[in-house]
Amino acid sequence: MKILAIETSCDETSLAVLSAYGMRMKLLRNIVASQINVHRAFGGVVPNLAKREHLRNLPILLGKIAQISNFHLPDEGSTLDTFSTSKLSKLKRFFGGIDLIAVTVGPGLEPALWTGINFAKDIAKKTKVPIAGVNHLEGHLYSFLLSQKTVNPKSKIQNSKLFPAIALIVSGGHTMLILMKSAFHYRKLGETRDDAAGEAFDKVARLLRLPYPGGPEIERLAKKGNPDAIAFPRPMLDQKNHSFSFSGLKTAVLYYIRDHREDASPEDVAASFEKAICETLAVKTARAAEQYRARSVLLSGGVAANSSLRKAVRRAVSALPQSPKLIVTQKKFCTDNAAIIAVAAYINYLKGEKRRLVASGDLSL
Ligand code: KG4
Ligand code: ZN
Repeated sequence: MKILAIETSCDETSLAVLSAYGMRMKLLRNIVASQINVHRAFGGVVPNLAKREHLRNLPILLGKIAQISNFHLPDEGSTLDTFSTSKLSKLKRFFGGIDLIAVTVGPGLEPALWTGINFAKDIAKKTKVPIAGVNHLEGHLYSFLLSQKTVNPKSKIQNSKLFPAIALIVSGGHTMLILMKSAFHYRKLGETRDDAAGEAFDKVARLLRLPYPGGPEIERLAKKGNPDAIAFPRPMLDQKNHSFSFSGLKTAVLYYIRDHREDASPEDVAASFEKAICETLAVKTARAAEQYRARSVLLSGGVAANSSLRKAVRRAVSALPQSPKLIVTQKKFCTDNAAIIAVAAYINYLKGEKRRLVASGDLSL
């Protein structure tokens, strides 16, 4: 089967086509239109601007993915009815080879989510292809299946070598530890009680007057600093639970900058903050892996693109007695994209699960 996936939960518009031949998955296309330049001037994502950009980008990306030129909608909110019949017939030909349209329904910004859902509904109506809603977090969770060109989810699903697995999802909106007994069965162990890891990176970047998104900017600056220069707190590290909290760490950085106006080195602040957050995430992940005797540890989400986090998790996990296998999602699939939505849609299809086509901003796992 072939899945066309649509992702519009935040500030990336993305479309992907995934082919799943029986038990094998192959990513055929994945196009991401980033809106970073639009939101950068505002220091963060502006929901209504995100919606406007998604509305503009979606038909352009569909045209690209279906290889139809000059494919755009004339007005905001207009539907595919405004297309010439020749373009519509090309579209129908493309959709002749598509078996499922998958679209993110949450969590995320609701105005942004609705653009994707309404667009998906519109094409599904025109082309009679079935449509399925996808939880964006399941996209991050299953993104490890894209770590090879061709993967075999069924064999991995049955593969006792990978499960139980501990998954750490670290994104702009979420930080959670998940126990996967199999690819079909998972349970959330804990999550952040306040800021997500990516949010903390973005807020600390703002304190250092770095542009949005802050994560990659902090990483760049941290490379030039001393990670042991400032002893920032490692929040909740002394607690045995699987919860996180990063707002206190952000406040510690705020106070440090306020109290060292003259002599604060931005490089050292970035490096010490990065070390504090990465160490906290790595140690808590390894602890969960030890407790549940995990055979593998999966790392995904936008913050998983951070090299220091990858290293810290690798170090912590390799020190465990059972030395679990560490599977880190490829960088290009860490930040938001539709390929991960397609993979989650395929797993849900195998499970026989479908989500309602209603935007749900605070959908959880
Ligand atoms: O998964 P994602 O693209 O969107 C959400 O689902 O939230 O994650 C975006 C987050 C942002 O907070 C961004 O600053 C962070 O991931 N991020 C990074 C890096 N690249 C992106 N954080 C730290 N280091 C990076 N290299
Ligand atoms: Zn995401």
